[in-house]
Amino acid sequence: MTVVLGLQWGDEGKGKILDVMAGEADWVFRAQGGNNAGHTVEIGGEKYVLHLVPSGILRSGVSCLIAGGAVVDPVSLVSEIQGLHDRGVRTRGRLHLAAQAHLVLPQHRAVDRGSEKKRGRGKIGTTGRGIGPAYADKAARVGLRAGELALPWPELSRRILERIRIHNHAARHLGWESIAPSADLREIQTASRFLRPYLCDGVALAHQAVHTGKNILIEGAQGTFLDIDHGTYPYVTSSHCTAGGACTGTGVPPTAIRRVVGVLKAYTTRVGSGPFVTEDGTLGHLLHGMGREFGSTTGRARRCGWFDAVLVRRAVRLNGVTELAMTNLDGLDGLEKIPVCVGYRWRGKILREPPVEASEWDWCRPVYRIFPGWCEPTTEARRWRDLPAKARAYLSALSRLVDAPLGILSVGAGREQTFRHG
Ligand code: GDP
Ligand code: IMO
Ligand code: MG
Repeated sequence: MTVVLGLQWGDEGKGKILDVMAGEADWVFRAQGGNNAGHTVEIGGEKYVLHLVPSGILRSGVSCLIAGGAVVDPVSLVSEIQGLHDRGVRTRGRLHLAAQAHLVLPQHRAVDRGSEKKRGRGKIGTTGRGIGPAYADKAARVGLRAGELALPWPELSRRILERIRIHNHAARHLGWESIAPSADLREIQTASRFLRPYLCDGVALAHQAVHTGKNILIEGAQGTFLDIDHGTYPYVTSSHCTAGGACTGTGVPPTAIRRVVGVLKAYTTRVGSGPFVTEDGTLGHLLHGMGREFGSTTGRARRCGWFDAVLVRRAVRLNGVTELAMTNLDGLDGLEKIPVCVGYRWRGKILREPPVEASEWDWCRPVYRIFPGWCEPTTEARRWRDLPAKARAYLSALSRLVDAPLGILSVGAGREQTFRHG
């Protein structure tokens, strides 16, 4: 079993790498997160953006599971599935939704928007999909789970209404939007009917796939530094995006995992607020000018910066990465000099580990090692030896700095623009 996850702040190209790897897989499990994710896959010029459905759905021989650690907005999931059907992608009998997954309901989106507004300048910059409040209800043990979509409608609607009433009561005091139940309930009723045939015991299904020797990929969402425990708290998401989350989210034990593929960009991006030591407006301007680095879920321009080896080395250790999948090398093709951050200057010291407190990050300045650029296109490369010598030197140096071997290289959004190291 292989876990594929992000080593930075999300959007590393997980969807693309997953799709390539899914060519040899039987199953793809999505362990955590919700429709805050946006995983892009380009096949022969056709672009797909998956939010909650695992990227493996685009390979007809692959089965997919949205596992119990994920949070599911039923109305949005139905529209994602219908969008796939409209494009000729079959899901019935191939896509399964764990009854254990928690539901994202309209009040969660209202709380997400309301708390961001209240935070003002200190806002997290969430995707507004209700993810944090849904995980908060799960932790507070008042959440509803996907399995409850199978209840007779009078009982399900009673449970939802009870929570909406509590929300509307609090909303009056806290200045949040209140929920007008009638329209939302109608949509949820339709979605619950649609989703019933997809429901399963996610853990039993995962165990069956493991014990029958299936080739399984676990698709991570978000990235290591958005993890609720290991990220740049509080500027994080509300799930465990690191390797441990792959186990708790699916019910698969750590001993079943043989390989951890860490996906990362040859530079760094981040959407939303929070620390970003190597952020560089000039690089952002260059990449945005090329039409790159706009969010797949919200369309926001991503913040851009240089490769940060301090962060990625931490991510390699946290996740037990066995190989790197380095994407977007081609984004650096035109540059004469490429800085890489090898340490943080902090109150007169050089740090090799990231600080714990968000406020301490403000005092960190990058220590750069400058690499010569290759100044030629890499997008046509199909083997390691096709890359310019300076690009190979850059990649090999990153691999040494973060202490993990190069596995997969990506020089464009297409499936064919991918090859193995060596
Ligand atoms: P994910 O959330 O990790 O799946 O990443 P996103 O799909 O949000 O963002 C990655 C973006 O980079 C998408 O637009 C991909 O099509 C694109 N992409 C992935 N790998 C490469 C690459 O090697 N080169 C280029 N030019 N684009 C890439
Ligand atoms: P994929 O899977 C990049 C970010 C948001 C915000 C923070 C919290 O495509 O890599 P949330 O809505 O989760 O409460 O927002 O997390 N964020 C992502 N950034 N890629 C993602 O997913 C993200 N999912 C959430 O921008 O900073
Ligand atoms: Mg994304």
